Amino acid sequence: MAENWDLLITGGEVFTPAGLAPAAVAVKDGRIADIGDLNPGGAAEVFDASGLTVLPGVIDTQVHFREPGLDHKENLESGTRAAVLGGVTAVFEMPNTSPATIDAAALNDKLSRARGRAWCDHAFFIGAAAENADKLGELERLPGCCGVKIFMGSSTGSLLVADDDTLLAALSSGTRRVAIHSEDEERLRERFELVRDGANVDQHPVWRDEETALRSTRRILKLARKAGRRLHVLHITTADEMPILAANKDVATVEVTPQHLTLAAPDCYERLGSLAQMNPPIRDERHRAGLWEGIRRGIVDVVGSDHAPHSREEKAADYPRTPSGMPGVQTLLPLLLDHLNAGRLTLPRLVDLTSAGAQRIYNIARKGRIAVGYDADFTVVDLKARREITGDWLASQCGWSPFEGMTVTGWPMATIIRGQIVMREDELPGEPAGVPVQFMETLPRGTAG
Ligand code: DOR
Repeated sequence: MAENWDLLITGGEVFTPAGLAPAAVAVKDGRIADIGDLNPGGAAEVFDASGLTVLPGVIDTQVHFREPGLDHKENLESGTRAAVLGGVTAVFEMPNTSPATIDAAALNDKLSRARGRAWCDHAFFIGAAAENADKLGELERLPGCCGVKIFMGSSTGSLLVADDDTLLAALSSGTRRVAIHSEDEERLRERFELVRDGANVDQHPVWRDEETALRSTRRILKLARKAGRRLHVLHITTADEMPILAANKDVATVEVTPQHLTLAAPDCYERLGSLAQMNPPIRDERHRAGLWEGIRRGIVDVVGSDHAPHSREEKAADYPRTPSGMPGVQTLLPLLLDHLNAGRLTLPRLVDLTSAGAQRIYNIARKGRIAVGYDADFTVVDLKARREITGDWLASQCGWSPFEGMTVTGWPMATIIRGQIVMREDELPGEPAGVPVQFMETLPRGTAG
């Protein structure tokens, strides 16, 4: 029987909850309408995915869209352009922007700037601060908000909640999972004298050492238990935090970044200088191996890019006045596909870390898997394509990537969001049409089905 589908994806291997198998996927009104051996006769558009693998849309749950040289409005266009070129279908943006996202006005401003400019679906974090700690419970429920983010150690921007009393007040206001930047501010201040008068950037992981991360992670887990609150601990960088986090899986989920899985000290600082500077820092091989072990053992729930572009000029200052962070939203998936091909990751694990994990952590409505009734978000990849990461391909305005020049195996060939082909073979054929992500904990009353 001919169905009036809007789109039919045929000929590909499709990753559903049942595993990888040849199938066609039908889309109607932005949702997945059917999966199986389907007749293309009734579809308005057919996407031939022969030779390709259709994955659930990749969700990057940690980006900072602060594109150098661009104003507020263009930022979101450029950042999300990079996202969809890299196969990412939804992004969660961090609050340490200027102005910081600490109230409803700042959140609504971001949402209105994203309308008609964002290429992918999106949600924004509210940053915790002393002045809004008691209002977080209301703020976290605003439409378009993915939750609260707490910086326990200072990084880019001024957001910081360092003392136990304010942390406990923040954790006691609201119910959704709270995202944590876990570095201990007191220890960061004590140790800053090691680098204050100038040092080589390879001292970054010495200043912000393992103990800085460990102490903070232990503290926040204890406070979370006191408050009865779930956490998501972002960008874990030490092997030593993994067993602690494994012992706290009832309260805490775990993120690692592709940078920490791919780069290691001292090589990254020798090769890239301050371009390799980020918070928490890239550490040595022992820690990188510990993060992979965390992935292998299932302790890690998600990979987020921590996309944080800073210009070459800013990065050319003398350390420690150089900003921390590197672009990454566009290279997240190519790097993970390369790790997959190198045998460090299986495809089910990659899917869990890039889509299902994000859904589970944040209770995202209708995303994170290929199943009937879910949003028709797909990242279509060629698992065997060998491609170089080139400056031409990179969209971030910072104009560099720590991975430029690297040849990877595995490449995003198309990004499909709610049934719209947003990116195909490095081109963006349509208009930016991203919408706010919805969450099951905060579905608006009277939501249309
Ligand atoms: O290196 C980083 N840069 N880590 C962060 O936590 C923040 C980010 C930024 O916003 O620049």
